[in-house]
Formats: sequence, C-alpha cells, structure tokens
Amino acid sequence: MIVRVGLLGAGNVGAATIRLLHEHAEDIEQRAGCRIEVVRVAVRDPDRTRDLPIVPELLTGDAGAVVRGDDVDVVAELIGGTEPARSLILEALANGKHVVTANKELLSTQGRELFDAAEAAGAALQFEGAVAGGVPVIRPLKESLAGERVSRVLGIVNGTTNYVLTRMTEEGMSFHDALAVAIGHGYAEADPTADIEGYDAAAKCAILASIAFNTRVVAGDVFREGIGGVSVEDIEFAGRLGYVVKLLAVAELDHDEVAARVHPAMVPKHHPLAAVREAYNAVFVEGPNVGQLMLYGPGAGGAATATAVVGDLVDVARNVATGGRAVGCTCYADRAIRPMEATATQYYLLLAVADRPGVLAQVAGAFGDHGVSIKSVWQEGTGDDALLVLITHRANEGAVQRTLAALRSLEAVLEVRSVMRVAGEE
Ligand SMILES: NC(=O)c1ccc[n+]([C@@H]2O[C@H](COP(=O)([O-])OP(=O)(O)OC[C@H]3O[C@@H](n4cnc5c(N)ncnc54)[C@H](OP(=O)(O)O)[C@@H]3O)[C@@H](O)[C@H]2O)c1
Repeated sequence: MIVRVGLLGAGNVGAATIRLLHEHAEDIEQRAGCRIEVVRVAVRDPDRTRDLPIVPELLTGDAGAVVRGDDVDVVAELIGGTEPARSLILEALANGKHVVTANKELLSTQGRELFDAAEAAGAALQFEGAVAGGVPVIRPLKESLAGERVSRVLGIVNGTTNYVLTRMTEEGMSFHDALAVAIGHGYAEADPTADIEGYDAAAKCAILASIAFNTRVVAGDVFREGIGGVSVEDIEFAGRLGYVVKLLAVAELDHDEVAARVHPAMVPKHHPLAAVREAYNAVFVEGPNVGQLMLYGPGAGGAATATAVVGDLVDVARNVATGGRAVGCTCYADRAIRPMEATATQYYLLLAVADRPGVLAQVAGAFGDHGVSIKSVWQEGTGDDALLVLITHRANEGAVQRTLAALRSLEAVLEVRSVMRVAGEE
C-alpha cells in the first residue's frame, strides 16, 4: 500500500521532510507498514530551482489543488502563520485528508476550530513539530503519560532567548550585544520580537498546557514577559545566589485550575533545566507517579523539526494502512484559567535603599503587611551604593505586586532595581 502525502511548503522544514522521506524510505516503510510517497508540493514560487529529491513536476503554486487532490491522503502543512494555513487545513480536513502540521502560531490561537473540524471529519491532526522542534513532547505527554496526572510542566521552549541568556551568563555580555551575536549566527531573526518578547514561547506554552491538562488553553491565556529587561546585574546576582536565569514556560494544574505563564526566571543551578544551554530546548514534566522527567534536544532547525513531522506522517500512514485511528484531541476537560495575580511562586527582588538604621525594618514591614514572607535578605554595599537583595518564600503574585507598590512609596527605598520570579525550587 502507498500513503500519498501532499506538502504545503518546502522551506526549512518542508524541504528537510522531503529529504528524510526519501533517504529513509525503507525504514519508514517497515515502521509504517506502507510506503509513504510525496505526490505534490505546494510552494509560493514553483519556478525556483530547488535541490530536492523529487521531480520538479510535483511542485505547484496552487496549494488549494493539493488539499483537494484525489491523489492525496495526508496533507503536511509547513507554510506557517495563520493564513492561508488555517483555510488550507480546514479545506484538507473537509476533503477527508489527515493533516500533519508544525504550526504553533495557528494551533495556539485557532486550535479548537481545527480540532473540531478534524473530529467532525474523523481525520487525524498531528503536530509534534509545533513545540520544541525535534524534541518529542506531544506524543510523550498525550500517549506515553496517559496514565499519569501531570501536575506541572516547565519548559525552555525558545532557542533564541536561551542562546541570548547563555551568552549573557557565560560571557557577561549585555542583552543587546548578546542579541546581536544571536542574529549574526542565525539564532535570531532580523526582527526578533516574537522570540525576545516571549510570544513564540507563549504559543508553545499554550499547546503544552492544553496537552498536559486536557483543556483548551490559548496563547492569550498565557501571562507573558520577555527577556528585554534582564540585566547583566540580574544574571550576576543570580549566579552568586546559586541560580541561572532562563526564559521559562510554566504550566501548572492546581485545584482544577490551569495557570500558564512565560517569563524570565531564576532556576537553581542544580535543577536539570539550568544545564540547558545555547539554543537547546527542554521540557521538564512533574507528576505524582513519574516524579520528574525531562525531554531535551534541538528546539528548532529544519532537519530536527522534520524528524517530528516524519514521525507524525509514519503514525498517520500506519493508521491509514491498518484502518486504525490516532489519539484525537485530548482537550476533553473544561478547566478554568487561573489569572496571573492569583498564581504563586518565589520572587527575587533587588532594591536600592538608603543606608541608615531602621530601613530594613520598614522594608520587612511592607512585605509583612501584604502577607509575603521573606526567605533570605542581605545588604550589598554601603552609603549611596547600598542594595538589598531579597528572596521570598512562595507568594501570591497579586500580594507581591501590592508589596512592590508599597516599597516604591517608601522614602527609604530609592529604587526597585529588579524583580524576578524564582522557579524549580519548591
Ligand atoms: N524552521 C524551524 O526551525 C521550525 C521549527 C519548529 C516549527 N517550525 C514551523 O514549521 C513551519 C514551517 O517553517 P519553515 O521554517 O520551514 O518556513 P519557511 O522556510 O519560511 O518555508 C515556508 C514554505 O512555505 C511556502 N509558502 C509560503 N506561502 C505559501 C503559500 N501561500 N502557498 C504555498 N506555499 C507557500 C514557501 O514557499 P517558497 O519556498 O516558494 O518561498 C516555503 O517553501 C512553520 O509553522 C514554523 O513555525 C519551524
């Protein structure tokens, strides 16, 4: 039997997918129980010469013809963005095609519509490549951990920001210098906003939270703070305190509510996520039975992501060949989203203060008044350079924000220099 694939897109991921399907055809056939053949490839410019192991006649500029084609069983959407990807996927499903995609932007905003359409059509919609590129995370969470009740997922899911933070940590570079190096080495786009501001990580966080907690979480539900405000001073203090700074995606289930957020966080140096350097990604999962486990690897790159796409294609093809069905949408619960101000974590604060008797008592009073308990505090420097460094116990975000407002109104507090959440300790 032959399962016929129509590709939408032959860019970084699409081209690598075509190559892997060609180079590993025999292994793939063994595992899928059928041959997988690329029968059409839609691109923006079909006349451009491409180094691909397919006959040029397969290339077309008409993506609509691919999703409607009678000769196509599975559509792999590797264009990216929301339109025309969304309309093409919906049309493919309506035409009875199974769909594989790596499109986090689309899934994290329009996921419900797409999964409903797949369910109605009785078709598969697979998306392993959408989170953490070449790192298998969706199938492990959906299938391998079906017997677990995941309580928390912590992820480093954006390679660009992890690369920038690694340069800042290991070479003492400023944020702007590290970003320039990242752009120079191709680890960041010329316009790095989506990565630096945390939009890309928030999309992946929404998908991870949806899969981990079986409820629909969209990108707009995810609290988001990027790394633009992280200073060399923050990173130095973090190092002295035994932490490294990472942009974390955090998804938690607590009392049937889901909290999802992306922000820079201090992670203890002994935590497995602290060892994730350069542009690598990792997803750290916690549950009462499995304890802790971490999935680690290349979070981007055409070839790495194509391994995830091919894995999905093999899964779909095997089901087509055997008449089986993939695990469908697992968002069968309807859990509330916990607002950021009601979430709790530890906090690090750096305050510039007047160096005189009684200041510490005033500062401690502001914390106490709002029910925020201080875990450790010490003073750095004297006179005009006096700084107070504080780490809190686990505290409510809303209470910490009210504490900050109170601190800013104290005459003895010259400046709240930095506030950063601490993760992975409790
Ligand atoms: N690259 C990664 O490392 C990575 C990692 C994880 C996930 N992803 C996801 O994978 C998807 C593809 O990313 P990519 O990096 O491969 O993108 P890309 O290199 O920009 O490739 C996009 C492809 O889509 C084609 N295309 C664009 N508009 C089209 C249209 N209207 N009709 C038909 N074809 C069209 C382009 O044609 P031309 O070739 O003619 O321009 C190109 O072949 C995205 O959803 C991305 O988020 C990528």
